Amino acid sequence: NEIYLQGVGGQRPEVTTDPEALEASARQRLRPEAFWYVAGAAGSGATARANREAFDHWRIVPRMLREATVRQLATTVLGTRASAPVLLAPVGAQSIVHPEGELATARVASELGLPVVLSTHSSHTLEEVAEANGDGPRWFQLYWPNDPEVCVSLLNRAAAAGYQALVVTLDTWTLAWRPHDLDHGYLPFLRGTGVANTFADPAFRATLAAPPEQDTPAAVLRWVATYTGTDRGWDQLAFLRQHWDRPILLKGIQHPDDARRAVDAGVDGIVVSNHGGRQVDGAIGSLDALPGIAEAVGDQLAVLFDSGVRTGADIIKALALGAQAVLVGRPYVYGLAHDGESGLRQVLRGLLADLDITLGLTGHRSPADLGPDTLSRSHA
Ligand code: FNR
Repeated sequence: NEIYLQGVGGQRPEVTTDPEALEASARQRLRPEAFWYVAGAAGSGATARANREAFDHWRIVPRMLREATVRQLATTVLGTRASAPVLLAPVGAQSIVHPEGELATARVASELGLPVVLSTHSSHTLEEVAEANGDGPRWFQLYWPNDPEVCVSLLNRAAAAGYQALVVTLDTWTLAWRPHDLDHGYLPFLRGTGVANTFADPAFRATLAAPPEQDTPAAVLRWVATYTGTDRGWDQLAFLRQHWDRPILLKGIQHPDDARRAVDAGVDGIVVSNHGGRQVDGAIGSLDALPGIAEAVGDQLAVLFDSGVRTGADIIKALALGAQAVLVGRPYVYGLAHDGESGLRQVLRGLLADLDITLGLTGHRSPADLGPDTLSRSHA
């Protein structure tokens, strides 16, 4: 309504409400290497495309005369209050799109009551982001360092700074083959962006001959060694449990058997995700993986979903297929590319309004009303 009313006065929204146009507009605003770092995917891009196509495998079946003019979007995910079943996915190195980066994201998330999941590889420290987030809901995403002392130090810092849950990303123990970044010879971290948490960490600093400020190349090399390629198995999750007493979620689950193993390992939740198609090329669309996983473990732990969510209808489909909440990645980063907080705010408010309206128009008063009979399998 706000947008239409402003339109009467001749005003157009500053940031487009169309997801594809939003990406195109971010492309015009960003340096090519920064844009492609965000927009790019693994290999041929088949998984990123499959993520979007998977939403077309399902159609919503609207219901009428169900008194859905007043909706309630608020929910609680593993003890964290959220104004809607939407979280901001962990996205590293956000200062490549706007200098305020994760600080702007944390402020807007707090203002809108949406939980923000801060990446280990953020461009501002987790303490600075916590301060920007104030009393807003926040979770910490862990890239599991090879050095146990650095790992424990990060966990202790995150707990002290009020992060309410830990999201352990499993699908990125090494970086995938990403042609756009390879062709630009570009990885933000190697240029000292997205390393703030680690460079500030006392346990990490103790491993260096000279502080990162004095010998950045050596610190970057050490950083790479800290986060790349250790063989890990399910039994090692006990280590994290020992050092983190709040909810733990595993991010990157795509197979029902891995979801069952997550239950056996005693974690509190999973994020059904393929990292927005950035890791394995030619993989299953994330939404196609969701129903089997929800059926296998949906009543035993919290099932969250990401990869490809762009609209209110997408969120409704994911929730109807068994997710408790979704995470959104690229769209909010494109919002951030439009003057930081203001662009981000417009993108997220637009997504929430779309969700709210579509929920009502399909005859639902709250996300809890969604279920398998909300959808019909598409045979197109
Ligand atoms: C990511 N993602 C990610 N995930 C994570 O666990 N830690 C991280 O640091 C990052 N960094 C990151 C950077 C960029 C530029 C993107 C686009 C993504 C993955 C992210 O959390 C999420 O899984 C996907 O972005 C979801 O897919 P969509 O919404 O982008 O399609």
